[in-house]
Amino acid sequence: MKKLIDLITETVEQGFEACGYEGSLGKVTLSNRPDLCEYQCNGAMAGAKLYKKAPIMIAGDVVEKLKIAPCFEEAAAVSPGFINLKLSKTFLADYLEEMDHSEKLGVAYDGDKETIVIDYGGPNVAKPLHVGHLRSAIIGESMKRLGRFLGHEVIGDVHLGDWGLQMGLIIEELKERKPELPYFDEAYTGDYPEEAPFTIGELEEIYPAASAKSKADEAFAEKAHDATFKLQRGDKGYMALWNHILNVSVSDLKKNYEKLNVTFDIWKKESDAQPYIPAMVQEMKEKGFAHESQGALVVDVKEDTDTKEIPPCILLKSDGATLYSTTDLATLVEREKLFSPDRVLYVVDKRQELHFTQVFRCAKKTGIVRPEVKLDFLGFGTMNGKDGKPFKTRDGGVMRLEYLIKEICDAVYEKIMENRTVSETEARKTAEVIGLAALKYGDLSNQASKDYMFDVDRFISFEGDTGPYILYTIVRIKSIQAKYEALPEHYTGTVRVLPAASESEKALQIEVSKVSDALLSAFSEQAPHKICQYIYDLSNAFNRFYHETKIMAEEDKERQAAYIRLLELVKRVLETCIGLLGFEAPDRM
Ligand code: ARG
Repeated sequence: MKKLIDLITETVEQGFEACGYEGSLGKVTLSNRPDLCEYQCNGAMAGAKLYKKAPIMIAGDVVEKLKIAPCFEEAAAVSPGFINLKLSKTFLADYLEEMDHSEKLGVAYDGDKETIVIDYGGPNVAKPLHVGHLRSAIIGESMKRLGRFLGHEVIGDVHLGDWGLQMGLIIEELKERKPELPYFDEAYTGDYPEEAPFTIGELEEIYPAASAKSKADEAFAEKAHDATFKLQRGDKGYMALWNHILNVSVSDLKKNYEKLNVTFDIWKKESDAQPYIPAMVQEMKEKGFAHESQGALVVDVKEDTDTKEIPPCILLKSDGATLYSTTDLATLVEREKLFSPDRVLYVVDKRQELHFTQVFRCAKKTGIVRPEVKLDFLGFGTMNGKDGKPFKTRDGGVMRLEYLIKEICDAVYEKIMENRTVSETEARKTAEVIGLAALKYGDLSNQASKDYMFDVDRFISFEGDTGPYILYTIVRIKSIQAKYEALPEHYTGTVRVLPAASESEKALQIEVSKVSDALLSAFSEQAPHKICQYIYDLSNAFNRFYHETKIMAEEDKERQAAYIRLLELVKRVLETCIGLLGFEAPDRM
């Protein structure tokens, strides 16, 4: 379906043309003065210069034509030359009727359908999943769902960090703790024994211990580097250990992501890119892109238009070691081979922006990706605590994701139990659903690139711009529907969306009609917060309508049934949107 605003723009354009003016002047926008009108067109002002005529005259001419257009109930020319528009209620009701019949609420993306790889999550194996990874998972999941909803082929890749120094640190620490293990013997050739020689609990304790040790003890740090080198060179015992670490970690990560309602299509890892590195580097050398600089092998990526210094992209350090950028480039080689994507979208902390600028430029310049491939970076800000500094636990450590989720759910549970209308078990379950919504909405409602403050009390509030408020609106609709079902008498004719009977109903219908605008711009601008903004406005419009309308006491049964039908549509829109944000609503709360 066409967007409603595009339909009315077309009408206004025709109005301009019918008066002999340039049609493109007829662009319509939402009104700046909702007290006066719903939509407006400022084209007469631009037309004034073109036709050397007072804007109010032009507006006056066009308005004469618009008065008879079926989509408007009112068209007025106001000084100095605005065209103020009010929608016809019948036109609006018909539009909603058509939306309701459409499988995707009339949301139609008419651009090219793309194959898109979304690189998000990005946890590091063996390190606990912490809040730093939370934003990537939440934002990336939403972009994935939205992309799919619009008809793209989307592949969500977790891109595990499994190849860095953390592996060497863990291996070295294990060597000190469990020297009896067979893996440290250079002559080790055995198959990987099935049982991992540690649990996830141990692993999580080992990494911070090893990391702290390496900072205090240079000899240990040296050994960890050596272990990393041996692993990357492919020593059998080290590979076996790495494999154990990976398996133990991945099953724990999967559990965590499941709690977040985040799912990946592929669990690729940094190590998967390693086999592509030698040939890639060789080719970059041969084609003359890579050159030596202070012992390292680099590719220049600066451009004439740069306003700040963009350092070269380093492929190999002077000791021949590969870097994060080498891995990301080789991953693009692999992605090209496996999926030949039209677009690759990285959802990563915005502090990594320079790294991605270098990688993208290098990939384009060296032809790793085709020139038409879009490489996009969706950089997000930091989640801060109330002190304005990156969020930490009370003892100063990085808060683990599971505890964070638990903190929110517990707070919601307390709140539900205050009223004690449901059993404890139900309260627990509901608290989990609401808690997740609170957390995700609390994150997604901010523009991604901005830092925001983690504030449990605000996130879980049932009022204001919060996840629970949106859920509450949906639950309220469900409860009205149940009450309606229980009425002794219902309208038996065909139920249509009826032209609005009040201002608040019309305002609600207009909000409903805007779902396409919200979803399409959220995707094209990589801005899930636009969905939040939209459902917040829609919920407000619904709640205003609800407070001003006596639905249950309505005597006109057809009108009553039409209200219920509108409610169902509002609920469908809200549920679709929260589904795209990655959470759902309970039946009661
Ligand atoms: N593992 C990285 C980190 O924790 C994030 C990975 C992002 N994706 C990528 N292709 N570099 O910072």
